[in-house]
Amino acid sequence: MIFKQVPVGTFQNFAYIIGDEKAKVAAVIDPAWEVDKLLKICEEFDLKVIYVVNTHSHHDHVEGDEAVAKRTGAKIVMYEKSPLRKDVAVKDGDTIKVGSTNVKVLHTPGHCPDHICLLAEGKLMTGDTLFVGECGRTDLAGGNSGDLYDSLTAKLLPLNDAIEVYPGHDYGSKVSSTIGYERKNNYTLKPRTKQEFIKFMAEP
Ligand SMILES: [Fe+2]
Repeated sequence: MIFKQVPVGTFQNFAYIIGDEKAKVAAVIDPAWEVDKLLKICEEFDLKVIYVVNTHSHHDHVEGDEAVAKRTGAKIVMYEKSPLRKDVAVKDGDTIKVGSTNVKVLHTPGHCPDHICLLAEGKLMTGDTLFVGECGRTDLAGGNSGDLYDSLTAKLLPLNDAIEVYPGHDYGSKVSSTIGYERKNNYTLKPRTKQEFIKFMAEP
């Protein structure tokens, strides 16, 4: 698997490229801005972009969707209940095939109702659900701290310690981490009841 983390735009976003070197195909995750830069990387590896996949529908993750789709013919993949254009609708537990690479979909609402995390060969793209040392905010439209608690505790924290965490923004002390590191060091993941977490998220 070819895997690239690409800083894009002015909001410290990370886009990602997942490619299969044999099948010569790729998926671009959250191509917000700097589409030229993302497509140039795909060209360098001789990869045809077949999918644009969005972790969620916030503008700083989807801004370049149409441009990538137009220039490459890629299909746009989003959670089934996302309000935006999607050519392929996915739900929790689905697998997106990029050549021989399986990308597993985990529905993780909380930051946004249509949020998904993507797991490919031990690499978890967490979008705005989990950052290095932080979790996503829940005070935007559709945000829900109780849902985020469930997503973090029932979907992400049970994953193996060695699973690598690749966030949607460069907000942490390093650009990526692991589930084990976050479980140990992320102050938002300290043991709390759901009620305690909701209260914690409401504090300034
Ligand atoms: Fe977001």
